[in-house]
Amino acid sequence: MKAIIPAAGLGTRFLPSTKCTPKEMLPVLDKPVIQYVVEEALEPEEVDDVIIVTSPGKPELLNYFQPDRSLESLLRDRGKGAYADAVAAVGSLPVDFRYQYEPKGLGHAIRSAADACAGESFLVLLGDYVVPARDICTKMLEVSRAHGGASVIAVAPCAPDEVSRYGVVAGERAGSLPGSEDVADDEPGAVWRVSGLVEKPAPEEAPSNLYIVGRYLLSAHVMELLEDQEPGAGGEIQLTDAMARSLDRENMYAVVIDPLSGYDTGTPSGWMATNALMASEDPRFRDAFWEAIDERGGLKR
Ligand code: G1P
Repeated sequence: MKAIIPAAGLGTRFLPSTKCTPKEMLPVLDKPVIQYVVEEALEPEEVDDVIIVTSPGKPELLNYFQPDRSLESLLRDRGKGAYADAVAAVGSLPVDFRYQYEPKGLGHAIRSAADACAGESFLVLLGDYVVPARDICTKMLEVSRAHGGASVIAVAPCAPDEVSRYGVVAGERAGSLPGSEDVADDEPGAVWRVSGLVEKPAPEEAPSNLYIVGRYLLSAHVMELLEDQEPGAGGEIQLTDAMARSLDRENMYAVVIDPLSGYDTGTPSGWMATNALMASEDPRFRDAFWEAIDERGGLKR
């Protein structure tokens, strides 16, 4: 199974930093954001390859995932074996690339990787969200297996006035993940059968408060439907719209996840908070991080 990571955007919100550095290459602790998403995508054993959809103007992403034997041996010669191992690990990740030549929306980006999926189900992981536990795709695959290979998306509850930023699902409770039988309908572990999907609804038109968090397991039929998908919200070819059309023929399920299981890296403030939170929780960085903060008299609001 392939996992697709769209990474063709301009990174406008991070300009001027993203003038020469793709936003996917911005670091969280010691790794670029995209590496977390690639490693998460490879966590389920079903996934054998990650397809990054990028634009021709971002060669840095291709360069990053190339092996660099001379850097590795230079580091080893200098006794920096741990850094050499880290460089080697990046170069050995199974990553391929496809290009999205025009910025026509998420659905268009995904369709640019159609040839790589060879008529099979595929995962999509949006790159503005880092999930340290790497467990969401495994949960979606579990739900899919229990429902004959159906499409499954991860959703989380949001405040009513936030729905217009997201894709939102309509549906009904259809079960639970094993061990979560007693949870409420919008609590982690609840499983829904999806009856409709709306991209960026006005609050009064939202069918629920469950939004698509950016982790999808989709059938080959969704990819077929993307081929002739008309532009939708914002004039863009929306993945959500092709998924909604697939409901005419196929079942789709949604698994509720804890909104705090992922960290936002899509805006400068989200990215800054993510770095601070992850540094304060990571045993490799936490002591030095707090010392650096305490030296300045601590964090004040
Ligand atoms: C995309 C999807 C949307 C989803 C969101 C999650 O929107 O179209 O359905 O809820 O990602 O972040 P975008 O953020 O690209 O506008």
